[in-house]
Amino acid sequence: MTYARIEIAPSILAANFAKLGDDVRIVAEAGADIIHVDVMDGHFVPNISLGIPVLASLRKATHLPLDVHLMIEQPELYIADFIRAGGNRILVHQEATVHLDRALAMVRELGAEAGAAINPATPVTMLSEVLDKVDTVLVMTVNPGFGGQKFIPNTYEKIRQLNQMRARYNASFRIEVDGGVDLENTAELAQAGANTFVAGTSIFHTADPAAATRQLKKLATQALSQKA
Ligand code: DX5
Ligand code: ZN
Repeated sequence: MTYARIEIAPSILAANFAKLGDDVRIVAEAGADIIHVDVMDGHFVPNISLGIPVLASLRKATHLPLDVHLMIEQPELYIADFIRAGGNRILVHQEATVHLDRALAMVRELGAEAGAAINPATPVTMLSEVLDKVDTVLVMTVNPGFGGQKFIPNTYEKIRQLNQMRARYNASFRIEVDGGVDLENTAELAQAGANTFVAGTSIFHTADPAAATRQLKKLATQALSQKA
């Protein structure tokens, strides 16, 4: 079974929005694989971030794929708009829709990669009926809504469980982790089965975001090769 390669996904929520193009270029040149874009509606999460016009501008500013994390209620209403604006991977929350299967199918039909996201309190088994319909499972390692929060350690076990389910079903979805990901926990997350590492604070709130990107990638890649 070949698992997905490591991806580092800088989260622009922690970037300087007045210099977004520059910040994205810096991490892209340092080897970032995909840019993580957090969309918050003030309902599903208690914060408001950015939306379709910002994504469309980003699309023109980078060749990297865009990882669109929809923290919005009824995501199916806006999936087409976010794909049209340039989203390559669309992540919808299991908790945000009563029609998860339909929302994921819609993403794939419109030509993007489909991802299902779960909050820390949601067990991985809530996704067991859609694991053949996702390209990515996003395990939130903080409660969504804000950057800069502390990593929740019992999410390691959820990643291990998902990793086992992936092997059991001979599936090839990626496991993405988001929230409080840093140089301290990246190796253990990679060993638990994570492939995609979203990092905001630990990249953009450092003196050298390019170096932080390279270090995270090195740690994750080394941990994976030790595991193999
Ligand atoms: C939180 C967002 C994250 C956030 C991560 O709701 O989904 O993507 O930007 O930020 P850090 O890496 O600072 O925890
Ligand atoms: Zn996110």
